[in-house]
Formats: sequence, structure tokens, C-alpha cells
Amino acid sequence: MTATKGLEGVVAATSSISSIEDGVLAYRGINIDEMAEHATFEETAYLLWHGHLPNHQELAELKQLLSENSTIPDVLIEQLKLYPKDASTMAVLRTAVSALALYDETANDNSKEANQLKAIKLQAQLPTVIAAYARIREGKEPLAPLPGVSIAHNFLYMLTGTEPDATSVVALDKALVLHADHELNASTFSARVTIATLTDIYSAITSAIGTLKGPLHGGANEAVMDMLREIGSLENAEPYIQRKLQNKEKIMGFGHRVYKNGDPRAKHLQKMSRQLGLMQGDTTLFDISVKVESLVTGQKGLQPNVDFYSASVYTMLGIPKDLFTPIFAISRLSGWTAHILEQLDNNRIIRPRAEYTGQFNQQYIPIELRQ
Ligand code: ACO
Repeated sequence: MTATKGLEGVVAATSSISSIEDGVLAYRGINIDEMAEHATFEETAYLLWHGHLPNHQELAELKQLLSENSTIPDVLIEQLKLYPKDASTMAVLRTAVSALALYDETANDNSKEANQLKAIKLQAQLPTVIAAYARIREGKEPLAPLPGVSIAHNFLYMLTGTEPDATSVVALDKALVLHADHELNASTFSARVTIATLTDIYSAITSAIGTLKGPLHGGANEAVMDMLREIGSLENAEPYIQRKLQNKEKIMGFGHRVYKNGDPRAKHLQKMSRQLGLMQGDTTLFDISVKVESLVTGQKGLQPNVDFYSASVYTMLGIPKDLFTPIFAISRLSGWTAHILEQLDNNRIIRPRAEYTGQFNQQYIPIELRQ
């Protein structure tokens, strides 16, 4: 038995949810470029869950269910008030999702119908949890979700307390579409491994959130923003990147295990970053990002991934840096839950082997004889 480091090239599951073939990402067979151009996040979630795009009635029913399920229990709001104000927002989200299970009497019901409803419920509640904590830590009262608006609209409203402008809603919605699913990425794999033991959906999502938090995965978008802030000006980009590359440090937001010729999601976020900069009359963050891309791609041959331009997009939407990864979680929850439902449809426990590299034939030495 020989192990492949990081399971590179290992095919660990069958799935009909999303595919990456020849550098093209597709959701249920539909190219991500088409989805980014035409679909809303709610349509995307429906597609991932059901395998086809919703008709008018199906979409209206989903939106109704999302709206009905978007409040969170008062007891959870009281708990959020007790969390440290400077906690990691991903740790808050991980803890809150775990806590939500305690107030859902269907938490341990693994029937398909119950899990489909819980997927919708979690999709509706995640933005409310994140926005509530973001306000509480600033000493403000959380806001109740608005009925009848999109998840992107509601999230921006619950965060700021004001009606968001149409451009911001469209930009966030597109970002949610682009992050929704990505084959067997690390957090989705965690979710599948967890649910495959036949535990509950909340446990699987808690695992996934913990996995997404890491800087090699979803946490990279926040690290990109730290880098852009440290660079600060266009002139400083070159010396900064040269220094990093000379020290063999990783440049966050670049590289990918699967895409070696570029992440197909990055160009949409790049376009959005440019548009928002032009609209706001300040393209500094976009310009620095483009410069960093030309340096890193030129010198290392590494292409930007989905996290690179999402950092400037979210900042221009006025979103605090530590909410970037939680927003990724809001979007990816649709993919996680689709994979959880798919795993349960044809389940077998996921239990690979390890290549043992330790010693054999050692003897037990009584403690008084040990050095
Ligand atoms: N900056 C500099 N060098 C890099 C980078 C980078 N961002 N990414 C890869 N490399 C180099 C590695 O150092 C390695 O060089 P070596 O062969 O000389 O040792 C080579 O490219 C191969 O990289 P690995 O780390 O082996 O690639 P792996 O497939 O294991 O990791 C990963 C992929 C984690 C995305 C990596 O590219 C990385 O750390 N990127 C930065 C973090 C990041 O942006 N993560 C977000 C990924 S997308 C997502 O999860 C949403």
C-alpha cells in the first residue's frame, strides 16, 4: 500500500453534481460561465439539490421556503451575544451551526425529505447567523431578515441595516453562484466523510465549516486582503511580490490542485472587481490585484484562483474582511448539502487505509526500565 500525498489524483467518490473537465467547471452539466452570466444563487442551489433548473413555480416555492426559514432561534441570538467580540467569525459560524442542531427536533432524522428541508433551513439561516454576530460585536441589535428578497439582498440588508443598491446585490449574488460547488474540494470531502457514518446533517456541515476555515482553502480570501493592504500602492507591488517569491513564501489566492491553466471562476470576479472600482471612482485595489497577477503569473506560472479577486470585490461591497470566508460558507452550503444528500442516496462508510511508516516488532518495556 502506498499513499499519495494530499490524495492528489485519487478519485474518491462518484458524483453527478459538479464536474471539472479540461479546466471547465460545470454544475449539473451547465458551464459555470453560463451560470455566472444568467443564474441567480437561488436557482443555482435548486439546480445543485435537484439536478435540474427550477421552473417559475419551483423557484417561487424555494424562495418562499427560504424566506419562512430564515429566522434563527432567540436562544441562539442570546448565545451569540455571549461569544467573544473578537472571535474568529468562522469559529462562530461553526459553533452556531452546531448549536442550531440542538433546537431542531428533526436534527437526527436522516430521511431524504427531512434532510432536504434542513438543507433549505440551513441555507436560509446561515446568512442570518453571520449578520447577527457581525452586528452584535459592534454593539448593535441583530436585524430580522426581510421577507421576499434574495439571500444576497437580505444578507447585505441584515449587515448594514439599509436597503442595498442593485449593483451590490447583483455582485454578491454572482459571487455566491461562483462559489456554490466545486466537485470534491476539501470541505465537501469532509462533509461526505462525516455524513457517511450516518450521523446528522448539522455534524457534517460543522465539519465542512471547520475545513473551509483554513488558509489553504476558503480562508485564502481573507489572506489575499491582508496582502493587498500590506502592498498598499501600485509601486509597492513589485518589490513586495519579489520579496515573497525570493523567500519561497506562498502568494495567497494563487495556485490550485486541479486547475493548472487557470481557475474559470477568477475571470468573472476580476470583471466584477473592475466594474465596482470604476463605479466607485477608485480602482486602486483592482489595479494592485492586476499587477500582482501579472507578477505571479509571469514569474511562477501560477494563475489566480477564485479567492484572489473575491477579496477586492467583497471589500468594495463594504464587507469586513473577516466575513469573506463566512460568505464563502453561505454559498458552498448549497454544494455541501447537495453532496450530503447524494452520499446518503448511495451510502457506504468512507474508510480508506494509511501506509504505515512506523516501526514493527517493538517490545513493551516496563516503565521502571524506560530511560
Ligand atoms: N504561491 C507560491 N507558490 C505556490 C503557490 C502559491 N500560491 N501555490 C503553489 N505553489 C508552488 C508550491 O510551493 C510548489 O512548489 P514546489 O514544487 O517548488 O515545492 C508547487 O507550486 C506546487 O504546489 P503545491 O502546494 O504542492 O500544490 P497543492 O496542489 O498541494 O496545493 C493550493 C494547492 C493549496 C491551492 C496551493 O496552490 C496554495 O497553497 N495556494 C495558496 C492558498 C490559496 O490560494 N488557497 C485557495 C485555493 S482555492 C479554494 O480553496 C477555494
